[in-house]
Amino acid sequence: MKIFVVYHSQYGHTEKVAKSVADGAKKGGADVTLLTAKEAIDQLDSLDGADAIIFGSPTYMGSVSAGLKEFLEAASKKWQSQAWKDKIAAGFTNSGSQSGDKLNTLGDIYLFAMQQSMIWTSMGILPGNNSSGGSVDDLNRIGAYSGLMTQSNVDEGPDKAPLDSDLKTAEFLGERVAQVTKRWINGK
Ligand SMILES: Cc1cc2nc3c(=O)[nH]c(=O)nc-3n(C[C@H](O)[C@H](O)[C@H](O)COP(=O)(O)O)c2cc1C
Repeated sequence: MKIFVVYHSQYGHTEKVAKSVADGAKKGGADVTLLTAKEAIDQLDSLDGADAIIFGSPTYMGSVSAGLKEFLEAASKKWQSQAWKDKIAAGFTNSGSQSGDKLNTLGDIYLFAMQQSMIWTSMGILPGNNSSGGSVDDLNRIGAYSGLMTQSNVDEGPDKAPLDSDLKTAEFLGERVAQVTKRWINGK
């Protein structure tokens, strides 16, 4: 089972999340390849061998970063032949604000995946940090359903942000995608 994690990160925060997503997918039994958007553009055909692709981007001005968008547009080459049809997909985004309009970024990634006729994976975990007993240490502390949302304080580098709870949530998503992919390919 081959899973690719393709991400863009200008300042390293989203990269840290991408590594945790990859660790989770490995834990789930996948053979994982982690690629920056630029590397993925240069070896687009290698993604044809993926069973699942997980896409990650920081949220910049309320949408995917130009770096990830460049990859998404380069990958339109795969749209005509629907080469990525029925691959499992998932998305993640990291931003400075608690909201920061991250949902729009996941929406961008989701629509790309739908145009490629991929199969979308939800977060699969209830929201944390949404009750009087909750805390920022909860998994899914941002409370997303459609993918992984993480948050990094804008005055902290990737050595400090995002929080461990976000990185654990990232591992959870990676492992979930591996589990979903396993079921999908075994049922083929
Ligand atoms: C050009 C630019 C636009 C940004 N736009 C947003 C935004 O819309 N919402 C938000 O919450 N944070 C925004 N931020 C903050 C980044 O999302 C945040 O710093 C993130 O951790 C950067 O990820 P990276 O280190 O992977 O590049 C923006 C940062 C930059 C540089």
